[in-house]
Amino acid sequence: MKLQGKVAVVTGAGSGMGKAIATLYAQEGAKVIVADINQASVDAVVTEIKQNGGEAAGAVVNVGKKEDVENMINAAVSAYGSLDILVNNAGVMDNFTPVGDVSDELWDRLIDINLKGPFMACRTAVNIMKEQPNGGVIVNNASVGGLFGTRGGAAYIASKHGLIGLTKNIASTYGREGGNIRANAIAPGGVNTNIQSTITAPHPLGLAALTDAGPGKLADPMEIARVALFLGSDDSSFVNGDVIKADGGWTAR
Ligand SMILES: NC(=O)c1ccc[n+]([C@@H]2O[C@H](COP(=O)([O-])OP(=O)(O)OC[C@H]3O[C@@H](n4cnc5c(N)ncnc54)[C@H](O)[C@@H]3O)[C@@H](O)[C@H]2O)c1
Repeated sequence: MKLQGKVAVVTGAGSGMGKAIATLYAQEGAKVIVADINQASVDAVVTEIKQNGGEAAGAVVNVGKKEDVENMINAAVSAYGSLDILVNNAGVMDNFTPVGDVSDELWDRLIDINLKGPFMACRTAVNIMKEQPNGGVIVNNASVGGLFGTRGGAAYIASKHGLIGLTKNIASTYGREGGNIRANAIAPGGVNTNIQSTITAPHPLGLAALTDAGPGKLADPMEIARVALFLGSDDSSFVNGDVIKADGGWTAR
């Protein structure tokens, strides 16, 4: 068991990679706060984890709302006594909309959920973790769109680049000398989750910018969860401020 006794908060845990991460963390001994905006999926994942002998509690949260985010983090501490791992995973896509066509509403939605949410969660979390004897770990689920200029629209790409920048700043500020907090990001390529069904009307210009052959065979969410397990556990104790790309070779081509 790689996470025995650890307390983890996972956002977007009702579906896709978040569900896989919450499930795997619980299998590895963590007590998990399953946080998602969708009540039904929160309940379903908590029930499944408990049926399999794990420990979990649900939190219905809009990560774009400060009060929800602070309550989510504080709920972990009051339920289980600490916060050892925060996984900022909840995120949405933008139909590959190029900057000339991005409305204020689309921009604000993407930045609120994909970047401001993780920022607010990190802000609350680091102030708890830096007071704990063993510090804590932050895992931010970005995207290959956080490393390259395509693979999403302007708002998605900006939000994921921002998330990677936030991750590096936390690592360099709160590392071994500053609170014993590690922060790393994952940059998945194409993964078989519900997010694919939200790409309802991809913008032709945004798609045209994707000049390569595409992601190829999509990953199973558990293939990314195993990266999140490595980053959340002591196996990665000297890895801080890094981005692990898990894209099956997509961007190597
Ligand atoms: N699937 C991919 O190909 C892919 C690739 C790279 C990165 N990502 C990133 O991985 C992360 C997880 O996405 P996924 O593919 O598992 O998608 P998914 O749609 O299956 O799961 C996302 C979950 O986030 C929840 N969510 C959405 N908005 C929320 C909000 N405001 N507050 C709380 N929860 C909210 C949804 O209800 C859903 O359960 C996202 O950040 C996404 O950008 C996905």
